Amino acid sequence: MVELDNFAGHNIHLETERLILRPFKDADFDVAVPFYNDPDFLQAMEGEPPDEPITKDYLKAAGKAMAKDGFLFAIVEKASGRTIGEVCLQWMNLERGKIEGEKVTRLPIGIWDKTLWGKGYGKAVVRCLVTHAFEKLGIDRFCPMDVRADNAPSKALWQSLGFVVSRELDDGKTLDFEMTRAEYEKRVQ
Ligand SMILES: CC(C)(COP(=O)(O)OP(=O)(O)OC[C@H]1O[C@@H](n2cnc3c(N)ncnc32)[C@H](O)[C@@H]1OP(=O)(O)O)[C@@H](O)C(=O)NCCC(=O)NCCS
Repeated sequence: MVELDNFAGHNIHLETERLILRPFKDADFDVAVPFYNDPDFLQAMEGEPPDEPITKDYLKAAGKAMAKDGFLFAIVEKASGRTIGEVCLQWMNLERGKIEGEKVTRLPIGIWDKTLWGKGYGKAVVRCLVTHAFEKLGIDRFCPMDVRADNAPSKALWQSLGFVVSRELDDGKTLDFEMTRAEYEKRVQ
């Protein structure tokens, strides 16, 4: 087996017009820490944020869990060369999202710097990874999970790309979304 010299343990490099997606590195956690200590970002990312300040070790533990069953990427802005967020194309790890005989992925995503929200970056990342997942990984279903109904940008992101709500939890406060292969193929025709 090839030893990969990065935290993410994969070697997939993808590109959009304005962004690069590359394997997540240990040093990226250092960049992430101050953003995770911004209450607006933390609140959006973590349903119940911890009381203690977020440390590199905390983020590494979460990153390790994602990388174990998925492809963890750093999002790099081409114009500035800065690492501006993280995204994980992750195999379904929640029992409620698994379907016998189907390959299902989910996609935790965070653009760390809130001044960059609403500029189309999230949508470009999702488009790129949806295409990769259906075309290269041969998935059957793409299922963003645990979207908080009061997280307007996140809800709008999935809806704008044609994902539909598959499940409501906590009296409608939490939503799961999905796109089936049939829906994906209809959209790319
Ligand atoms: C959620 C997130 C990834 C979305 O990425 P983004 O780059 O801000 O979103 P985009 O600019 O690509 O916008 C995607 C769609 O949502 C819409 N949108 C963006 N922000 C919005 C807002 N505050 N209210 C309503 N709609 C909004 C956009 O208009 C666009 O739809 P359109 O193409 O139909 O016009 C980003 O805001 C983020 O990282 N937030 C903090 C972390 C988070 O909430 N992660 C998700 C939960 S785990």
